Amino acid sequence: GRALDLAGRHVVVSAGGTREAIDPVRFIGNRSSGLQGYALARTAAARGARVTLVAANVALPDPAGVEVVRVESALQLREAVMEAVRDADAVVMAAAVADFRPAARSDSKIKKTSAEPDAVHLVKNPDILAELGEHRREGVKPYPEVIAGFAAETDDVLANGRAKLARKGCDLLVVNQVGENLAFGTPDNAAVVLVADGDPVEIPRGPKDALADVVWDLVAARLDRPA
Ligand code: C5P
Repeated sequence: GRALDLAGRHVVVSAGGTREAIDPVRFIGNRSSGLQGYALARTAAARGARVTLVAANVALPDPAGVEVVRVESALQLREAVMEAVRDADAVVMAAAVADFRPAARSDSKIKKTSAEPDAVHLVKNPDILAELGEHRREGVKPYPEVIAGFAAETDDVLANGRAKLARKGCDLLVVNQVGENLAFGTPDNAAVVLVADGDPVEIPRGPKDALADVVWDLVAARLDRPA
């Protein structure tokens, strides 16, 4: 059974979507609601884990018994995750992290001018999930024992997901089938979980808590296997 199978474990979950500031009032953001990440945090806590939830711009109340660290940008999320994983057994990166951020943030609100607007120059954000995988591959702390990520794919779900799992060096990749009113901002989700050294696990459409519990089943199985 699942009851308290994560007792004594510390797990880190990221949730929501980062905001990359353009000026004091504007940002580049995404539509992630944080619902799936919060479901992961809630279910892990219910199974006895100590949970650190790194929440980016989520309009949801803190889940009971969970330590919540609120962040805004990808760089802040990276810092909070790296700090939290120092003594963690597992990390599940459910946050939608912006791939790019404005190269510079204007200190004052950008004004309308009659002339052509300035372009917003973007630079690449660090890939936090890939960084954790790389740390583990190279034996450089901090990295947790089990590393899981999420990916939204529209086509060639298995092939693209498999390539992403390998590229990021994670153990589990939860691949959402986007479209058809699933995933973003909805209570339901459907996914296939790709497993680094195993068969994919299909999760039929259902509540985000049910999907979260399957993810923890797979995490718990990896934590419990003999070294
Ligand atoms: O590459 P893609 O954005 O599809 O990968 C999604 C996964 O990678 C998610 O688990 C997300 O949290 C993580 N990610 C990250 N840092 C980034 C971009 C994505 O950790 N800069």
